[in-house]
Amino acid sequence: MASLGAASSGQRIGMAADHSARSTGLVRLGVGLAYPCLRARGHCRTAGCSATPSSNRSDIGRALGKLVGKGDTTRITFDGKVVGAGNETMEASGDDTALVDRDGVRQVLESREDSFVLSAEEVERIMGFGHFESIDELLRELTRNTSHLSLPPISNFRVSCAALGESGRVYVGVNIEFKDLPLPCALHAEQFLILNAFQHGESAISKLCISHVPCGHCRQFMCELSRSEDMQISILGREPEVFTLPELLPLRFTPRDLIGEGARFLFEEGHNGLVWAGDGSSGGAPGDMEMAQRALAEANASYAPYSNCPSGLCIRDQGGKLYSGCLIESAAYNPTVSPLHSALVNGLVGGLPSWQTIDRVTLVETEGATVKHEHLIRECLKFICPDAEYSVLYAKTS
Ligand code: THU
Ligand code: ZN
Repeated sequence: MASLGAASSGQRIGMAADHSARSTGLVRLGVGLAYPCLRARGHCRTAGCSATPSSNRSDIGRALGKLVGKGDTTRITFDGKVVGAGNETMEASGDDTALVDRDGVRQVLESREDSFVLSAEEVERIMGFGHFESIDELLRELTRNTSHLSLPPISNFRVSCAALGESGRVYVGVNIEFKDLPLPCALHAEQFLILNAFQHGESAISKLCISHVPCGHCRQFMCELSRSEDMQISILGREPEVFTLPELLPLRFTPRDLIGEGARFLFEEGHNGLVWAGDGSSGGAPGDMEMAQRALAEANASYAPYSNCPSGLCIRDQGGKLYSGCLIESAAYNPTVSPLHSALVNGLVGGLPSWQTIDRVTLVETEGATVKHEHLIRECLKFICPDAEYSVLYAKTS
C-alpha cells in the first residue's frame, strides 16, 4: 500500500507454518509451536486438512440434541453417521441420539451458517416446536452442549455460555487460549459472548447462562454493558437460582466511578469520528483499501472511553474473506479486549478456517495515541499466524 494515512508499513511476521501435523488435528507453527486445528471443533474447511470434519450446523445440532421431534421425525445418531430418510444428510459427532423434527427444527439447523448465533427468527421457530419450556431452558441446553467449540490448549478447561439479546437473537461464547502466549492473552467465554453480541449490533443482554461460576474479571467486564444490572444470570448446576450483577458483584467499580455520570456504556450507539490521517490516498494491492476501510470502520465503532485511543483491526484469510473487530475497554483496564482478539472472535463466528489461514492483518490506531496496540499485536501474530503480512495505519479525529 503506497500511502493510506500518515504511515503504512506492510511486513511479514515471519516463522513458516509446517502443516505436517495436520493429520493429528494439530497445526504446527514454526519453532515447535502447536495449535489445535479449528476443524477439530468444526471450523476448519482447509483443503487437505484431515482433522475430523464436523459442519458448523452439526455443532448447533448437537447443542440442540435435546430437541425430540414430534410427528414426522428423522433419527440422527451423533457418531458421524446419519440414520434417516432418503439421501438427507447431517454431519455430526459425539454419542448422543436425538430425534429431530424434519420439517421444523431440522430446516432451521440445516440452513445455518455459523455456530455462535441464532437469529431471532430461528429462536422463535425453535421455541415454536414446544420442546423447550422456556428460553432459559434453551440457553441452558446451548451452554451444556457448546463447550466443544472452545479452544483451550493450555488449560483444557472448557467454558461456554449462551445469552438472549434484547433483539431476540441468541449468542454463544467459549473460552479461547493461545499456546506459547502469556495467560492474560486468553479470552474468557463471557467476553467472547459479549463481543459476539456487540458485533451483531445488540442493544442489551437480557439473560445469560454460563457453564461455570463467572470469575471476577468477567463480572468486572460485565459492568461495561448497557443495563447490565437488569441482566438475569444463571449458572449450570445452580438452577433454578438466577443472579443479577449487583448480587454477584455488590460493590462494583463501574464506568461511572472512572468518568462520571455521563459515562457511555457498551452496546450504546457511538461513533468516534475518525478519518485518515495524512492525505487519505490509497494504493497497493487490490483489496488493501477494503481492509483499511473496514479497520477504520471498526476503529470508529471502538468502545474506548478510558484511553480515548480507539482502534480497529481487519484480518483476511487465504480465501480472501475478511473479518474484523475493535478495541473494547474496561474501566478497570485489565479485562480490556484488544482489537486482535475482537477480530479473532469475529473470525470464529464467521467461519475462519484456522488461525494459520490468516494471510493479512491491518490495524488502525489514532495518530499519536497514548495507548498503542501495534507492538503487542505484532508479537501475538508471530505465534498465531506467523505468515501474515501486518500493516498499521493511522487515523485522526475529524
Ligand atoms: N474462564 C472463562 O472462560 N470464564 C471464567 O469466568 C472463568 C475462566 C476460562 C479462562 C481460561 O481459558 C480457563 O477458563 C481457565 O481459567
Ligand atoms: Zn472470566
